[in-house]
Amino acid sequence: MTSLLIDRIGELTTNDDSLGEGLGGRLRDAAVVVEGSRIAWVGPAAQAPAADERVDAEGRAMLPGWVDSHTHLVFAGDRTAEFEARMAGEAYAAGGINVTVEATRAASDAELSRNLTRLVAEARRGGTTTIETKTGYGLTIGDEVRAARIAGEQADSVTFLGAHVVPAGEDPEAYLDLVTGPMLDAVAPHVSAVDVFCEAGAFDEAATRRVLESARAAGLATRVHGNQLGHGPGARLAVEHGSLSVDHLGFLEDADIAALAGSWAEWRDGAGPRGTVATVLPACDLSTRVPLAPARRLLDDGAVLAIASNCNPGTSYTSSMGFCVATAVLQMGLTIQEAVRAATLGGAIALGLHQDGWRNPRGETQPAIGAIRPGARADLQLLDAPSATHLAYRPGMPLTTAVWHAGKRLH
Ligand code: NIG
Repeated sequence: MTSLLIDRIGELTTNDDSLGEGLGGRLRDAAVVVEGSRIAWVGPAAQAPAADERVDAEGRAMLPGWVDSHTHLVFAGDRTAEFEARMAGEAYAAGGINVTVEATRAASDAELSRNLTRLVAEARRGGTTTIETKTGYGLTIGDEVRAARIAGEQADSVTFLGAHVVPAGEDPEAYLDLVTGPMLDAVAPHVSAVDVFCEAGAFDEAATRRVLESARAAGLATRVHGNQLGHGPGARLAVEHGSLSVDHLGFLEDADIAALAGSWAEWRDGAGPRGTVATVLPACDLSTRVPLAPARRLLDDGAVLAIASNCNPGTSYTSSMGFCVATAVLQMGLTIQEAVRAATLGGAIALGLHQDGWRNPRGETQPAIGAIRPGARADLQLLDAPSATHLAYRPGMPLTTAVWHAGKRLH
């Protein structure tokens, strides 16, 4: 097995406070040794062991690769006109989803795979090393199984979102029976979790409960799209059902925030029952002109936070986690370290991939992700900047200059 030493790292964010200072576990003048797909050593550059190969970071900042825990990448078509209308004052409504459903059903497997490859490549160039993606633009048994299968060829984690909207022209009760019955049975072998869009215009409280209960009965983890377009029961139901995460969260009551924070009361350093991660999607909030999710308050009150891109053709057509981190700092009031942690380790916890031994959709057992510490998967990004602070200090700049995924250099 070849080893690689990356040294002269000006600032290393490890996300492990036993390795460095403060929330990010930061080290100055640091080095990292990679062996195979894992990190073998982390510490001061002056004490670094020798390795077969060497990369000189020349004082640049290194941090874990982004963990994008919420995307919708299996789709066809384009919704420029809808976006343009929204920027001219029209409100976003979940109905636009059916436009993409129609285009996706009409596309060939090869077209869907090619679009997915394009979007994954874009994300990787921007420093993303772990990607969750969802079905949800098929909404028939065949189209949902197809989306899950195609997603599983490239993503690290695949989620079944049959409960995205009721397809145009279908009876809501009959569709709910399908999504919680035969469609779930058919898609389950291809996914690790089930998601439901709990919102006016999508699925109400009773329907959301049925989706979450059917997922649990099938032995799958759950997530909820909640509190995106207005106040509602999404966050509360996610906590009640022990969902891995609830995502969006622009419209939260005090009780929702208390429930999200309270769900982590017994969880310390990965021990004790975990809670529900509050995942905020800053690019989506901007692109739909809803209030930014109260990330500052969620953290202050004790919730565990993730930041994700929500890349999809309707509400957030970007995979740039750097943009999301900059927005979280500049407009949501997070510190750099809080935002970077939420976009790396926070995403890993939201996906349940922060501990060793998880399996990707190809059945390959994987090391923990989200931190740069011995034993973790060697998912690293090097910035063309001396500090991660530049992510917000120089917003919008393509700062990621090198990426390693499971020890392999991508660019
Ligand atoms: O996360 N909330 C529902 N689903 C997507 C939107 C998908 C679309 O409009 O195509 C979201 O924003």
